[in-house]
Amino acid sequence: NTHTRTLSPGHRSVDEITGSRRMRRMRKADWSRRLVQENRLTVDDLIWPIFVIEGTNRREEIAAMPGVYRMSLDLAVKEAEGAARLGIPAIATFPNVEMSLRDQTGSHILDPDNIINKASRAIKAAVPEIGIITDAALDPFTSHGHDGILRDGIIVNDETVAQVAAAAVGQAAAGADIIAPSDMMDGRIGAIRQALDANGFQDVAIMSYATKFASAFYGPYREAVGTAGLLKGDKKTYYIDHANSDEAVREAEQDLAEGADMLMVKPGLPYLDIIRRLKDEFRVPTFAYQVSGEYAMIRAAAANGWIDGERAMLESLLAFKRAGCDGILTYFAPQVAALLRG
Ligand code: PBG
Repeated sequence: NTHTRTLSPGHRSVDEITGSRRMRRMRKADWSRRLVQENRLTVDDLIWPIFVIEGTNRREEIAAMPGVYRMSLDLAVKEAEGAARLGIPAIATFPNVEMSLRDQTGSHILDPDNIINKASRAIKAAVPEIGIITDAALDPFTSHGHDGILRDGIIVNDETVAQVAAAAVGQAAAGADIIAPSDMMDGRIGAIRQALDANGFQDVAIMSYATKFASAFYGPYREAVGTAGLLKGDKKTYYIDHANSDEAVREAEQDLAEGADMLMVKPGLPYLDIIRRLKDEFRVPTFAYQVSGEYAMIRAAAANGWIDGERAMLESLLAFKRAGCDGILTYFAPQVAALLRG
């Protein structure tokens, strides 16, 4: 290989510049690349978000999320069984609630028989081995699509927190293993922890959407849960400004002090720097949510033949591991689990 040794006549050789180190030695063969690989994606890293609706044998594809469906509970239970067979550790449920049940305060979230609680009971009964994560946020239940109680144009913090904490207790009673509040109200983690403990749910964990940024990447999700047409204004008065990083660390610190067991960063790929900072700073289980818009981007580019969708999917998920994630919420979960299991 002497012809690669000299950069060009009259210049110093590569060895003169680098000493004897040659980074390509370990890259030259598949076996040596596997041997030195630092991070790995496994099925154990996956959390699958699913959308549930009333009815039976109903499956509606979400236009901006090809391959992702709103499903009635009979089908959702089957999918959860399939996910468990693939070894996916947990699923996260999100509802599309009938418009007639949505109101100003999202009161239907407290109904023990709302679709999320029914989903938890049905999945728990059929697939006890899979973890169930529920979102205690109000947005799928409010008539305005915001994550809080809206009064005179303001999202009222403390009243929302009380509602979210009560919702969390109802979700725990229905069988949720992890409560993951995504509303970003101040003080919600402490209130949820207290409410869970006071009601005998000491063992139900909290995954805080600690650093949830005001983002354009949530678009397809809002179509999925039916808030896209309702939402007026934006969520900048409660989600974090995506220009900020120190603020994200302070938010995570606060949520841990209030009792969060796990942290989540959302969206995912544009926020790998935040994941790394939180992991280095707090050393607690840290998750990323590869959100609907990220899924849509990969699928859209792949559908156009502009990128290799499968490789982009795997690369994006491994990037989360490299950044410090313990796991990833991803709509790709069943697809990637099937792939990883060969
Ligand atoms: C709101 C909520 C959002 C998502 C889940 N719950 C964001 C929003 O609508 O503002 C986004 C999930 C995704 O985009 O995949 N509590």
